[in-house]
Amino acid sequence: MASASTKPHKGIGMEGVIAFWYARQTARDVDEFQRVARRIAAHLNPGSQVLEIAPGPGYLAIELARVIDGRVTGLDISRSFVRMARENARKAGLRIDFEHGDAADLPFPDNQFDFIACRAAFKNFARPLAALNEMHRVLKDGGTALVIDLRKDFSRQAVNDYVSGRNPLAAAMIKLTFNTMLKRRAYTKESMAGLAAQSQFGRAEIRLDPIGFEAWLRK
Ligand SMILES: C[S@@+](CC[C@H](N)C(=O)[O-])C[C@H]1O[C@@H](n2cnc3c(N)ncnc32)[C@H](O)[C@@H]1O
Repeated sequence: MASASTKPHKGIGMEGVIAFWYARQTARDVDEFQRVARRIAAHLNPGSQVLEIAPGPGYLAIELARVIDGRVTGLDISRSFVRMARENARKAGLRIDFEHGDAADLPFPDNQFDFIACRAAFKNFARPLAALNEMHRVLKDGGTALVIDLRKDFSRQAVNDYVSGRNPLAAAMIKLTFNTMLKRRAYTKESMAGLAAQSQFGRAEIRLDPIGFEAWLRK
């Protein structure tokens, strides 16, 4: 039975044509990935070790690798995305380690990373509490994890604004996915705060915007 620490769906990744479709759609969000990367970079010291969990095609990891003085690692459960992200990094001339694995069972030693980012993925994790505890384990003391995701109580207007400018078919597909599967899986500010409270982090600072939230978790 599903509880706060497990969810009813399987945490399978996105493979094959779905992964390619997603990569094409989000390739146009480069400004957003650059903005997030610059904001994260502002929190980091030279030589930082950064982990992106569930990077998909790797666009945020790539922008991070361009702006930080340090090393970026990515970890995704989808083999299609790991291959794609490696290829995207190679084309960009950047050295990023993209590995295959599960957010709830990270293949990294304790206390390795200064910062962890996880965008547009946390709601899909089948074992979210285990994923938070794994983030805590692999962070160094004083390290920070940032979870960016859709808020469950987003308005129709917020989604309309999000898809504006996309081709009508893509906009319709995105709206349908947001209003059905993703809305079901997404967290409210309160449910995300509750999960953080149960985790090794003990708490999160949660910031809302019209369509999503950022949960800042500090070890
Ligand atoms: C919607 S995509 C987001 C990709 C990217 N972070 C972005 O911002 O565009 C969700 C990602 O989560 C990954 N994923 C889902 N469950 C996972 C898990 N348990 N462990 C690691 N990655 C997972 C999927 O394979 C996919 O890459």
